[in-house]
Amino acid sequence: MVFAIQPFCKRETILPKTLLRVLSGETVSPPPVWLMRQAGRYLPEYRAIRAKTKNFLEMVYTPDIAVEVTLQPLRRYGMDAAILFSDILVIPDALGQSVAFMQGEGPVLEPLRTATDIGRLTSAGLHEHLAPVYETVRRLAKELDSNTALIGFAGAPWTVAVYMVEGRGGTDHATIRRWAYSDPVGFGRLIELLVEATVAYLSYQIEAGAEAVQLFDTWAGVLSEQQFQQWCIAPTKAIVERLREKHPGVPVIGFPRGAGALYVDYISNTGVNGIGLDTGVPLSWAAQVLQPQGAIQGNLDNQLLATGGNALDAAVDRLLAIFGHGPFIFNLGHGIVPDTPPEHVARLVERVRAWNG
Ligand code: CP3
Repeated sequence: MVFAIQPFCKRETILPKTLLRVLSGETVSPPPVWLMRQAGRYLPEYRAIRAKTKNFLEMVYTPDIAVEVTLQPLRRYGMDAAILFSDILVIPDALGQSVAFMQGEGPVLEPLRTATDIGRLTSAGLHEHLAPVYETVRRLAKELDSNTALIGFAGAPWTVAVYMVEGRGGTDHATIRRWAYSDPVGFGRLIELLVEATVAYLSYQIEAGAEAVQLFDTWAGVLSEQQFQQWCIAPTKAIVERLREKHPGVPVIGFPRGAGALYVDYISNTGVNGIGLDTGVPLSWAAQVLQPQGAIQGNLDNQLLATGGNALDAAVDRLLAIFGHGPFIFNLGHGIVPDTPPEHVARLVERVRAWNG
């Protein structure tokens, strides 16, 4: 009798992916690199697909397109991580608030102003609505090679609430800040609803194959100290705790943009494994005070990436010299801007990879 020899399990020596090693506290040299908004309009191949679709949300909810667009920057530059192509505003969309992406204007939502408005939101159809996003994650998990980590993400409750209440992002946030002061209980219900939805959404992403998740708190920097505690740290901590109960091995990266000195409270109180620094954070301070508590991710100026040249090289080297001897993920301080020349991204990735400090 002839036996076909079948290995009962495929044994490759798989070292954990560099991004995951760093998020578990290891120093990896050179550090892993990925860039916020690495998929997007600065790439001609993205613009070609975008031109063929009706609107941005159609891209997000069509797994064939979302997978392709996620992989585009990896084909060019081979970053150490892919980030799911989606948007933080799929949560309000899935809760039943109307969300539109206007060309050249950014997102516009029907603003939510009262307890009655909140009462109209429903999470009953959340997962059905977001099923295409989970399908995108599932397909990406199969596509990626053994060195490339898959990052899932969501907006943090405060930042998602900013868009839901203000109707857009780039305002002075007067309405939401006054609501939070005048009726913390009523406003708190919106934040609680978002905590629930975000835990559920990120858990499904993880079950579909996301290996790490990032919480984007883009507008954390407009909060006063106490409000930061209440609307940024507390909901983030709740999300991290609940995710950890369900998925203990999956690291969380927090990005409280503009938090300044409050980055210290954020990293010591939320339980995140890694922290995204915006461009304004002083490097030596962060290396001394924050890096001993968690992995650092950041924080090259996205406008310097758009500028390029020797100044870009020097800033890359400086970041590597200051953060590269501890747990560090090379990234920007905010997303790539659309007029960034793609060759600058290549130059950045090559320079990080060549580092042997
Ligand atoms: O490559 C990646 O980073 C993954 C995809 C991703 C997008 N949005 C795609 C996108 C991620 C992680 C986000 C997060 C996001 N979305 C944030 C947090 C991070 C940040 O930048 O502060 C915020 C605040 C949003 C909300 C949002 N979506 C805005 C304000 C805009 C308009 C601004 C813009 O750049 O056009 C979007 C649209 C959007 N999200 C685009 C992309 C690629 C551009 C849409 C287009 O092609 O027309």
